[in-house]
Amino acid sequence: QTGYEFVVVANRLAVNRITTPDGSTGWQRSPGGLVTALAPIMTSSEGAWVGWHGAADESLEPFDHEGMHLHPVALSEQEVEYYYEGFSNGTLWPLYHDVIARPLFHRHWWDAYRRVNQRFAEAAGKVAAQGATVWVQDYQLQLVPQMLRDLRPDVKIGFFNHIPFPPPGLFAQLPWRHSVMRGLLGADLIGFQRESDARNFQRAVRDRLGYYIKSEQIYVPLEDETAAPLEGFTADPARGTAPRQLSAPEDGTFRRSEAKAFPISIDTDRIVELANDPKIIARAAQIRAELGNPEHIYLGVDRLDYTKGIRHRMKAYEELLQEGKLQVGTHTMVQIASPSREGVESYQRLRDEIELTVGRINGEFDTMGHTAIRYLHHNYPIEEMVALYLAADVMLVTALRDGMNLVAKEYVAARKDGTGVLVLSEFTGAADQLRQALLINPHDIDELKAAMVQATHLDRDNERKRMRSLRRQVVSHNVQRWAEDFLRRLDQL
Ligand code: G6P
Repeated sequence: QTGYEFVVVANRLAVNRITTPDGSTGWQRSPGGLVTALAPIMTSSEGAWVGWHGAADESLEPFDHEGMHLHPVALSEQEVEYYYEGFSNGTLWPLYHDVIARPLFHRHWWDAYRRVNQRFAEAAGKVAAQGATVWVQDYQLQLVPQMLRDLRPDVKIGFFNHIPFPPPGLFAQLPWRHSVMRGLLGADLIGFQRESDARNFQRAVRDRLGYYIKSEQIYVPLEDETAAPLEGFTADPARGTAPRQLSAPEDGTFRRSEAKAFPISIDTDRIVELANDPKIIARAAQIRAELGNPEHIYLGVDRLDYTKGIRHRMKAYEELLQEGKLQVGTHTMVQIASPSREGVESYQRLRDEIELTVGRINGEFDTMGHTAIRYLHHNYPIEEMVALYLAADVMLVTALRDGMNLVAKEYVAARKDGTGVLVLSEFTGAADQLRQALLINPHDIDELKAAMVQATHLDRDNERKRMRSLRRQVVSHNVQRWAEDFLRRLDQL
């Protein structure tokens, strides 16, 4: 079979559609770390990217952009509703993030998820060369590994889960848990953000499927694969069956799949380069001036998502203002909330709540010349984000659960002079690596308040010592290294 040696499969394509001022449309490479890390591999190794281009009811021919071969997968309006907004973001997202919002279990959503996963698997199977490496990304596509293996047993399959993998007790709520586990186990290597995510998955597989596991290696019985291919099922195949024994199976009766942590990172060089750019440094000073030159700027940067703990952060800030421990004019908070998943009800509700809260706090504490919270519901280019990182004295990352949180790492990368304080939730993947941040439990409002006050009172030596140690971590572990580590391990297996 002719085709590409390296294929990435992700819900979103590596490009976004843009409209130029003259009204014509074109494509622009997506700014995220994943695309940044994989684009060079794509261009140097005859790679293709299979993904959805973001619009409903539109099919597009494959096209090239900046040396990448892009293979769009079309979704109907109903599939966007059932597969993307429904099962991916109304079921899996809240379930995998500690049920912060209530996950909804709808059979027609699951059916669409399975159908769309099959379509992605077929698209990947069509473009992959004999013996190619196929790397499947994230929770929207958990069935693709096994579906692809059924179609193309010759290819090497990797999977990376960008979000947390829930504790077995929560995962067990999913009516289709067995299918999801078997879908993932189609991969030769299954990557997770944290060690705890990899362990959660291994425990679910051991307890529910009864597979034998030895030091990250999962022994998948071949008879399970041939007896019940994933395509064609509506009911969960292993429903009601008792787990088997956990003894090492005999040679020739199993295949091995490895589940292991590979914490993702950012394009550190790019952030550092921007942080050194005189235009961006000047913009940072301008931002401070526009905010009335407060002594301390707190910054939050998040997709507008209920996992991010934006309300907890505002509650803490509001109480500190009420108690007089912070003063508008001396202190200010900037909250960037980028629009996200606006078709999903829980996101609409969250937006209403946040905007009500911001209005209340500003109404109470603003003065003619100064604002308590400068709230911006926009997407900004990375240049503006780095200027904000440079302008902010304290970065607030208060997520209730987050696979990694790249904003925390970007802030650290941008602070090249060693100043700045990161307040970081222990419930982020980043907390495993950024141990010198002020680590907090965002549910503990008093602890969060204490950290916010402490952040503006750290002596300079302490502040620099912490930031230097954080920067060493982020500089030595960039996203390019993440991709290399994963692909090297996949190649060894
Ligand atoms: C998270 C997920 C990604 C997703 C991104 C943006 O980072 O891990 O898979 O692409 O959020 O969400 P969206 O639904 O707009 O793609």
